[in-house]
Amino acid sequence: MHVVIEPKILYFGSAVVLISTLNEDGTPNLAPMSSAWWLNQSCMLGMSSKSQTVQNLQRERECVLNLPSTDFVHAIDQLTLLTGRDPVPESKAKRGYQHEADKFGIAGLTPMPSHHVRAPRVLECPVQLEATLMNVHAVEDPSSLVALEVRIQKVHIEEHLQMDGHPNYVDPSKWKPMIMNFCEYFGLDHQLSSSRLAPVFGPTT
Ligand SMILES: Cc1cc2nc3c(=O)[nH]c(=O)nc-3n(C[C@H](O)[C@H](O)[C@H](O)COP(=O)(O)O)c2cc1C
Repeated sequence: MHVVIEPKILYFGSAVVLISTLNEDGTPNLAPMSSAWWLNQSCMLGMSSKSQTVQNLQRERECVLNLPSTDFVHAIDQLTLLTGRDPVPESKAKRGYQHEADKFGIAGLTPMPSHHVRAPRVLECPVQLEATLMNVHAVEDPSSLVALEVRIQKVHIEEHLQMDGHPNYVDPSKWKPMIMNFCEYFGLDHQLSSSRLAPVFGPTT
């Protein structure tokens, strides 16, 4: 039997992304988010335009999408309820957000230079995707939410994630994404079965 409910959020589970952008003064900002979905070589990011990240993206039109593995829950926790905005917008201050200028430092993460964009990559993240902003779409107008369409320009992965004998493929059995399931962190537990789609898109062995 199904029941009708009215949940406050609809976060049915998606990968956590750590977005790095450049502030106006050239220092880096870092923010966790998880309303992200992938389409071919693009990604759509759902974010509040009150965040420092969106302001940076709209000005610089560049970012890096760093994907943490399940080993980095602690770093994500350190970044929770922090913003690069100064002063903190009133709506965020009411929810307990505080300003933090050194997000890399507070999370114990290391910036490293990117190839294509000025924003730094996060050394500790096994996947780093350099991206440029293509479009900004209003969502639930008149709210502050926007969907940012970014195009992935360069893909960096840790060597151990490469599929044996197929250097341009990520081995899904080795990649351990951090999943935000509603507002809690999960890992992918185990593979359910092999998929008939996998051979269409490339080698699975
Ligand atoms: C795991 C996690 C997922 C989040 N997902 C989103 C999201 O999808 N969209 C969003 O706008 N904020 C999201 N947030 C909140 C942002 O991190 C928060 O707004 C932060 O202040 C943004 O930092 P910034 O203002 O320095 O850009 C998430 C936070 C956490 C910890």
